[in-house]
Amino acid sequence: MDLGLKDKVIVVTGSAGMKGSIGETIVQAIAAEGAIPVLVDRNDRGIAYAQEFQDKGVDSIFVKTDMTEPKQIEAAVKLIIDKYGKIDALINNVGVNDGAGLDSSVDDFMYSLKLNMVSYFVMVKECLPYLKESKGSIMNVGSKVGYTGQGGTSGYAAAKGGVLALTREWAVDLINDGIRVNALIIAESWTPAYDEWIKTLDNGEEKLNSIKEKIPFENRMTEPMEIANQILFTISDKAAHTTGQHIFVDGGYVHLDRALLPAQ
Ligand SMILES: NC(=O)c1ccc[n+]([C@@H]2O[C@H](COP(=O)([O-])OP(=O)(O)OC[C@H]3O[C@@H](n4cnc5c(N)ncnc54)[C@H](O)[C@@H]3O)[C@@H](O)[C@H]2O)c1
Repeated sequence: MDLGLKDKVIVVTGSAGMKGSIGETIVQAIAAEGAIPVLVDRNDRGIAYAQEFQDKGVDSIFVKTDMTEPKQIEAAVKLIIDKYGKIDALINNVGVNDGAGLDSSVDDFMYSLKLNMVSYFVMVKECLPYLKESKGSIMNVGSKVGYTGQGGTSGYAAAKGGVLALTREWAVDLINDGIRVNALIIAESWTPAYDEWIKTLDNGEEKLNSIKEKIPFENRMTEPMEIANQILFTISDKAAHTTGQHIFVDGGYVHLDRALLPAQ
């Protein structure tokens, strides 16, 4: 299916993670559609990623930005506009499950909110004039933690819960501007960050198997490309009547009753 995204300027935050991270996979998918991936992240890996795209003839830029700094976000959007003159879609993907829990300081909790939620607000605010011009689309990357909790991660849970509420709030705010706003919710996706976390555990392999067993559909982790594909479809005009939705790409993790599933 041609998603009609050719030459669209699509901004993705948190897109300079390791190869195979969600953000990096999204920008690969954007390039494959013939659109222009704009990478916004604080990690210098983004320089090489944008260069790799350019070497393949894909127009792309990396804008080094600390997403906890509103002034840097403002400057990043200005730079994008100076280069391309438009923004067709914004994918708010940056996020770290940083374990700012009940035993953490208020400062750590506030930092988590800043990174995982306030950055989404600032990005939308700064991109809005251009999204209004393009009748663009916004996608927020959420987490099951915003629905189910996880324990030990108050900041991330509050932020991801807030992102889901803001998705509906902004969908209402922007309904007369022709801007659609949706959220994509991930439960368990196999990324390099996930792999790193598993490696810190004494019983990593065992833990991973017990997680997979609880994922109803095919007892496997979600592939980052399955997430990227759903995101690109949803921001495209093929999904022109979808707004304010929380879209779960999680193999049934959150909603299916495991008690009804066959024993493993
Ligand atoms: N992998 C999963 O199973 C899973 C589950 C639920 C939700 N998610 C969500 O998916 C998204 C991507 O996750 P991922 O696993 O690819 O993460 P990741 O850790 O691989 O990538 C996060 C990116 O954010 C960047 N970043 C961190 N702090 C930053 C800052 N202050 N300023 C700018 N950039 C910063 C990092 O450099 C990195 O590129 C996140 O929103 C995450 O919450 C992932």
